[in-house]
Amino acid sequence: MNLCMIGTGYVGLVSGTCFADLGNRVFCVDKDKNKINKLNSGISTIYEPGLDELIKKNYSVGRLVFTDNLKKAIAKSELIFICVGTPNKKKSNDVDLSYVFKAAKEVAKSTKNKKILITKSTVPVGTGDTIEKLLKKLKKKNIEVISNPEFLREGEAIRDFRFPDRIVIGSNRKKYFNILKKLYQPLINKGANFFTTSRRGAELIKYASNAFLATKITFINELANLCEKANINIEDISLGMGSDSRIGSRFLRAGPAYGGSCFPKDTKGLISTGDKFKTNLSIVKSVIKSNENRKRIHTEKIKKILGSLKGKKIAFLGVTFKPNTDDMRDSVSLKMIPSLCKSGSKIYYYDPTGPKVNFKNIKNCQYKKNIKETCKDVDLIVLHTEWDEFKSLEFKKIVKKRSFSIFDLRNLYDHKQMKNKKIKYFSVGRPSSS
Ligand code: UGA
Repeated sequence: MNLCMIGTGYVGLVSGTCFADLGNRVFCVDKDKNKINKLNSGISTIYEPGLDELIKKNYSVGRLVFTDNLKKAIAKSELIFICVGTPNKKKSNDVDLSYVFKAAKEVAKSTKNKKILITKSTVPVGTGDTIEKLLKKLKKKNIEVISNPEFLREGEAIRDFRFPDRIVIGSNRKKYFNILKKLYQPLINKGANFFTTSRRGAELIKYASNAFLATKITFINELANLCEKANINIEDISLGMGSDSRIGSRFLRAGPAYGGSCFPKDTKGLISTGDKFKTNLSIVKSVIKSNENRKRIHTEKIKKILGSLKGKKIAFLGVTFKPNTDDMRDSVSLKMIPSLCKSGSKIYYYDPTGPKVNFKNIKNCQYKKNIKETCKDVDLIVLHTEWDEFKSLEFKKIVKKRSFSIFDLRNLYDHKQMKNKKIKYFSVGRPSSS
């Protein structure tokens, strides 16, 4: 099939490339000429393991085309996917849909023919209806609006595309399900569940899924606080609970707090939808509050570990919100590092994806080029992101100071092992060694 992806951000670029790899001809369109030039010279504009190779492979055989010419791309495509950003509005939970509506208007302007317009961007309930009204106003009755939300995780996006738990299609007209089924048939053949519902239903499934996963994480994080006080291992609780198939073990890992470009944004977006339909989504509201509070707890714990923060040297290993991405959006480190620096600590940080502009203007915060340089002279190491290269470190060989502590926000190491090495070790929701 011939497809057009509007927007070469995370969703558009990954799914466009993967659709091309399934044998489709895909036109990836973006207004940003720099992005298009970069992509046309074979360089990926986002950090995603395996994506560069897949882009090169499909670009070289002409299945993947990068262009800023929307009109031409639309003329050649049967299915048009809207993959633009849907950020929260400043100072409110509402979702900024201006890019989505702009894209829909441009599609309307660019074609007289029958087309299928699919929202892949995460959009609130009723967005498809609004797009439909907008198209009607522009006298475009031959453009059908369908919802097909995306469930890719950063860092695992290619695998998630190829082996999805489900493919969700929302349409108020049944005949369109078959067209989308044809597109996804190679994945359905490998076992993906093809799920159809109303357009509003599909829009809500995406928000409900992200909000539920955020709730699961927040639930286990609050229990981790209890475990620390009651001398219980949170990992036993995750395993014990998770082996009940009604609960499931995934997304029950206690950690610093959820971050990233989706859970924080989409939990807020869901509340805004609740408000619009006069429904109080109190659970989601308390999840957001609990997750925000959690970021403060860690800084207080560091103060407790070190006695005071003034003049203390602290290493951060990893600063991105999770491994295998260079994404800093809503990363817990963005709250912790400035707060520690403000209290007089000196921060050294290392991340496999390099220095971050977010910390450029923060006094007493320095990027170091490797783990050794970062940790050699510190009082405390904070294991912030679970990159593989942080998982088997010989801390006594790396740190030159006689006495230092480790605060493992990802529970990468074992308490007993650390006790044997005489390292003061603190983790999340597990009985402490000291
Ligand atoms: C999330 C969803 O998992 C995807 O299904 C969805 O498509 C995507 O949002 C989106 O809406 O586009 P992502 O934000 O890439 O994906 O990251 P996750 O792997 O879900 O992690 C989110 C946060 O939860 C991270 O901060 C991670 O460290 C944290 N987390 C995750 C935990 O603290 N514990 C866990 O057990 C799992």
